[in-house]
Amino acid sequence: MGSSKQLAAAVVVSFALLMAATCQAGAVGPYYHPPNPSTCGLKVGYYNDKCPHAEDIVKGVVGAAVMRDPGVGAGLIRMLFHDCFVEGCDASVLLDPTPFNPQPEKLGPPNNPSLRGFEVIDAAKYAVEMACPSVVSCADIIAFAARDASFFLSDRRVAFDMPAGRLDGRYSNASRTLDFLPPPKFNLGQLVANFAVKGLSVEDMVVLSGSHTVGRSHCSSFVPDRLAVPSDIDPSLAASLRSQCPASPSSSNDPTVVQDVVTPNKLDNQYYKNVLAHKALFTSDASLLSSPATAKMVVDNANIPGWWEDQFKKAMVKMASVEVKTGSNGEVRRNCRAVNHY
Ligand code: HEM
Ligand SMILES: *[C@@H]1O[C@H](CO)[C@@H](O)[C@H](O)[C@H]1NC(C)=O
Repeated sequence: MGSSKQLAAAVVVSFALLMAATCQAGAVGPYYHPPNPSTCGLKVGYYNDKCPHAEDIVKGVVGAAVMRDPGVGAGLIRMLFHDCFVEGCDASVLLDPTPFNPQPEKLGPPNNPSLRGFEVIDAAKYAVEMACPSVVSCADIIAFAARDASFFLSDRRVAFDMPAGRLDGRYSNASRTLDFLPPPKFNLGQLVANFAVKGLSVEDMVVLSGSHTVGRSHCSSFVPDRLAVPSDIDPSLAASLRSQCPASPSSSNDPTVVQDVVTPNKLDNQYYKNVLAHKALFTSDASLLSSPATAKMVVDNANIPGWWEDQFKKAMVKMASVEVKTGSNGEVRRNCRAVNHY
C-alpha cells in the first residue's frame, strides 16, 4: 500500500509541528520557553481553594447520567475531542447559535446531529454555579466530564487526575470543525497529520481512537466507504451492518449502530481486538493496521493487560491541554451555551 512511506512522511511533518499547538503559544522572544505539554499552565486540584467541591459535583452529575444512559458517557468523551481540536479546549463547542453568530461549531457537520451530552454539561454547570457562581469554566467541566465518563464506563478502571484552569472562548465557527476534525474516511497518513497539527503523536492518535470501544455511529459515517464498496470489513459484521443500515443513508434515514459489537458500553481494549479481527466500522479504524508501527501499537493495546488504559489516561490529559486559554484570553462563562455579556 506504500502507507509505511506515507506514514514516514507524515511523521516528519509532525515533528515540525510538534509542540506547536499543544498549548497556546506564548510570545516568542529571547526568554521564550516552549510550553510544557504536561501542564500547559493547568493544575491538578485547580479548584481546591476556589470551589472545593467542583470536581465532586461534576462527577455526581456525570455518574447519574451515565447510569441512566451509557451512550451519553460516550458522547462526553467525544465532546472533549471535538472541543479541543477546534479553537482549543475552550468550550467553543457548547455555544448555541445567536443572531450574531448563527453558525457556531455545534452546527458543523461533525457535531450536528451526532454530538451528545450537552444537557449533562448544563446540569453540571447549574450544580456547580449553585455552589460557586462564576468560578468554574465550562471548558474545565467538559474535561472533568470526559474524565468521569471514562471512569464510569470502564467500571472504575480508567481513573486519573485531570489538570484544570482552562478559560472559555468567545469564538465558535462551524466551518472550523471541517478544518480540524478528521472524517472517518481518512487514511493513516491523513490521521497522523491531523493529530500532529494539534501537537499529538501517532501513538496518541492510536490510543485515543480506542474510545471507539463505546458509543454509536450513524450509518452515513461508514456505509459509503466500507459497505457500498469493497473493504476489509469482516463479512459477518458487514452483513449485520447491512441489515441495520440503508444502502444509501440520508439525513432523513440514518440509523445508528453500536461501534463495538462485543462490549458496546464498556470502555476497554476490545476496540483493538476488533480492529485486528477487521470488525471496526471506519476506514480510519482499519487504517491503524496499515503501517508496521501502528499495527504493533494495536497488537500491544489488544494483548497487554492494562497497557491501553495507562496510555489512554495520559493521552486524554494531553489532548485536554491542546491550545488551552489560561491567561487573559478567555472568560468563565456563566451559561455554557452563551458568551458573557458585559
Ligand atoms: C482518529 C480520528 C477519529 C475519527 C475519524 C473519528 C470519527 C468518528 C465518527 C465518524 C463517529 C461516529 C459519529 C456518528 O456518526 O454518529 C465517532 C464516534 C465517536 N468517537 Fe470518534 N473519531 C476519531 C477520534 C476520536 C477520539 C480522539 C475520541 C475521544 C478521545 C473519539 C471518541 C468517539 C466516541 C466516544 C464516539 C461515540 C459517540 C457517541 O456514541 O455519541 N473519537 N468518531
Ligand atoms: C467563519 O468562517 C468562515 C470561513 O472561514 C468565514 O467566512 C466566516 O466569516 C466566519 N464566521 C464568523 C462569524 O467569524
